[in-house]
Amino acid sequence: MLAPMEKIADSSFRYICHKYGADLTFTEQIRFETLVKKTKSALDRIKLYDNTPTMIQIMGKDEGKLDAFLRDFSPDKGFQGFNLNLGCPSQTYVRQGIGSAMIKRPTKVKRMVDTIKNYGYNVNIKLRLGLTKTEKREKVYRKLIEKVEADFFVVHARYRSESYERKADWSVFPECVNTGKAIVANGDIQTKGDVEKMKEIGCIGVMIGRAAENNPLIFGQLRNLKLPTLKSVKQEYIELCKNREGSYRENVSKWII
Ligand SMILES: Cc1cc2nc3c(=O)[nH]c(=O)nc-3n(C[C@H](O)[C@H](O)[C@H](O)COP(=O)(O)O)c2cc1C
Repeated sequence: MLAPMEKIADSSFRYICHKYGADLTFTEQIRFETLVKKTKSALDRIKLYDNTPTMIQIMGKDEGKLDAFLRDFSPDKGFQGFNLNLGCPSQTYVRQGIGSAMIKRPTKVKRMVDTIKNYGYNVNIKLRLGLTKTEKREKVYRKLIEKVEADFFVVHARYRSESYERKADWSVFPECVNTGKAIVANGDIQTKGDVEKMKEIGCIGVMIGRAAENNPLIFGQLRNLKLPTLKSVKQEYIELCKNREGSYRENVSKWII
């Protein structure tokens, strides 16, 4: 799976990643409190332009606004369901009690998941291990996974304040899998060996972020697919961006060519 990445995983990038090997993609995060306002910039974020299998990633805490958003929502082709973001480490959001501040609130999360399900949509969750080291030690992530019934849980194996310099703590994955829930591993996964390790642990899949940011062909490479050059894929991306709002053509400067 291609990870949700703000200012990177726009619809053109998601199309490219799926075309060359990713099973599933995720939109950039957006608050449902913003979506209910129906501004063009908000709706552009969740607009799907093609059949690329896509989860729309939402976050927030006002359950009335979640309901109001869902009431008016009509899925584009490609839409597979919603992903609830309980991983965002942003100080602004954490202060408001959302993103990774919500991992320790399984009852509220359960209500939000049930609201989404009541509208007939699939729903999965992306979470970190907690807000703090203490929350990680108290295993708030496991309690949430146990209590909430979502289609799958993407576990980014870091707590909120952990930076990318510290390696993700893959030792948490077996206990997450032991809950009996479907677990997708996330954090520093890059190689075929990493993927094999996650398979052995019993994860149902892996999610890849930064390694795809520099190389959207990574999904096909991990699957031994026959692939075009990165240079031609870059051109394909630029062409796609021309007809899509909210696409970031400057992203390609990050790609290795
Ligand atoms: C530039 C950038 C933007 C990101 N934006 C989001 C986002 O919108 N929503 C989210 O859940 N995670 C976001 N993340 C986190 C990634 O989805 C992922 O969990 C994290 O990068 C760890 O995976 P990786 O080691 O494969 O990169 C972002 C990460 C990066 C690098």
